Amino acid sequence: MKKYAEITGWGKCLPPAVMSNDDLATFLDTSDEWIRTRTGIEERRVSAVGTSKLATVAGRNALAAAGLDASELDLILVGTCTPDELIPNVASAVQRDLGSKYAAAFDLNAACSSFLYGMHYATQAIRTGVHKKVLIIGAERLTRILDWTQRESAVLFGDGAGAMVLEASDTESGLLASHVTCDADARDVLALKFGMSFDRFGFDGIMPFNFVGQEIFKRAVKGMNTAVEKVFAETGLTTADIDSLIPHQANKRLIDYLAKMCKVPEEKTVINIQKYGNTSSATLPIAFCEAVEQGIVKPGDTIVSAVFGGGLTCGAGIIKWGQRVTPIRPNDEVLESTGESALDLILPLHEQTKLAWEKRGNE
Ligand SMILES: CC(C)(COP(=O)(O)OP(=O)(O)OC[C@H]1O[C@@H](n2cnc3c(N)ncnc32)[C@H](O)[C@@H]1OP(=O)(O)O)[C@@H](O)C(=O)NCCC(=O)NCCS
Repeated sequence: MKKYAEITGWGKCLPPAVMSNDDLATFLDTSDEWIRTRTGIEERRVSAVGTSKLATVAGRNALAAAGLDASELDLILVGTCTPDELIPNVASAVQRDLGSKYAAAFDLNAACSSFLYGMHYATQAIRTGVHKKVLIIGAERLTRILDWTQRESAVLFGDGAGAMVLEASDTESGLLASHVTCDADARDVLALKFGMSFDRFGFDGIMPFNFVGQEIFKRAVKGMNTAVEKVFAETGLTTADIDSLIPHQANKRLIDYLAKMCKVPEEKTVINIQKYGNTSSATLPIAFCEAVEQGIVKPGDTIVSAVFGGGLTCGAGIIKWGQRVTPIRPNDEVLESTGESALDLILPLHEQTKLAWEKRGNE
C-alpha cells in the first residue's frame, strides 16, 4: 500500500470577462477605495458558462500537468456550492467531457473549504488503497447566486476553477496532515436562503444572502488558528519548517493575520485575491497553481494552508510538494471569450433583482 498522495498535476480556469471595482461602482453604492482597503480585491472574473465547463478546463489542465490520460483516473471529486443543476452532479459532467469513463464521480459542498475537505478525504482514500489516481477540482460560478443589490456581499466574490491530480506514491509528499471542522452554531451567518425547503411556486426571484461579515471574520480567525495549531502538533513541524503559506482567499486582512500567526514573510504568502476576489472552493487550487507557475513553490517545499467557509466549515493542512514543478504537457488551456463583458453578464441580474425587491416592498 502506498502511504502518500502526491500532487502530480495542477491547473486552473479563469473566465475571460473581468469586472473591476469601478465597474461595480457603476450600479452599486460602493467604491474602489472601500473594496480595496477592506478586502484587497481589485477585480474579479464573471463566467458566461456553467460551473462544469470551468471545472472541465481546470481538470484537463491538471491532467496535462500530470501527464495522465483521463481514462487513468479512478475518482473525480468536485468541490462546489454552485452546481449547474441539482441532479446530476458537476463531477459526472466533468467525467463525460474529459472522457474518464472508469472514474467514480461526486460533488462535495463544504462551501469555501471544499477543496481542502476534498484533499483530506481523497488522501485518506489513496492511503487505504481504495483509489490511486484522483482528480480534485474546486469550481464555482458564484456570480449567478449573488444578490447584486447587496453591496456587503456582491463585491467579494468571483468565478473560477482550479484542480489537482493526486497519485499514490511512496515518496513523502502531498497532504501530510490535515484537520477539518465545522462551527455549525454559526451556520446562519453565511447563508444563501434558497433551496428545496423554500416555496418554489411562490418564488419571486430573490435569493437573499445572509452575510454577517464581522462575525464570519472573527470565527474564521479562531477556527483557522485552532486548525493550524493542530496540524503543526500532528506533524511536529513548526513555523520555521514552512516555506510558504497558501490560504483561502476571502480577505487580504485575514490572510495578513494568518501570515503573522504562521510567521511566514510577505514574499512567501500567496495572495491573488486582488485579481479574482473570493472564488470559494476554487481559491486554493488556483492559488497553488499560480504559486507553482510563479516559482514560489519549489521542489520539496513544505506549505501550510488554511480555509474557512459557509457552515462555518474550517480546516488546515500541511502539504509537501513533490520534486516536479513543471507540467509534463502544457497546462494552459483557457476559455474562449463569448464577446460579452462582465457588465453585459451582470447588469440584467442586477436589474431583475432590484425590480423583485421593489415588488416585494410594495406588497
Ligand atoms: C465583509 C467584510 C470585508 C466587511 O468589512 P468590515 O470592515 O467588517 O465592514 P462592515 O461590515 O463593518 O461595514 C463597514 C461600513 O461599510 C459599509 N459597507 C459594507 N459594504 C460596503 C461596500 N461594498 N461598499 C461601501 N461600503 C460598504 C457598511 O454599510 C458599513 O457602513 P456603516 O459604518 O455606515 O454602517 C469583512 O467583514 C470580512 O472580510 N469578513 C470575512 C470574509 C468573509 O466573510 N468572506 C466570505 C466567506 S468565505
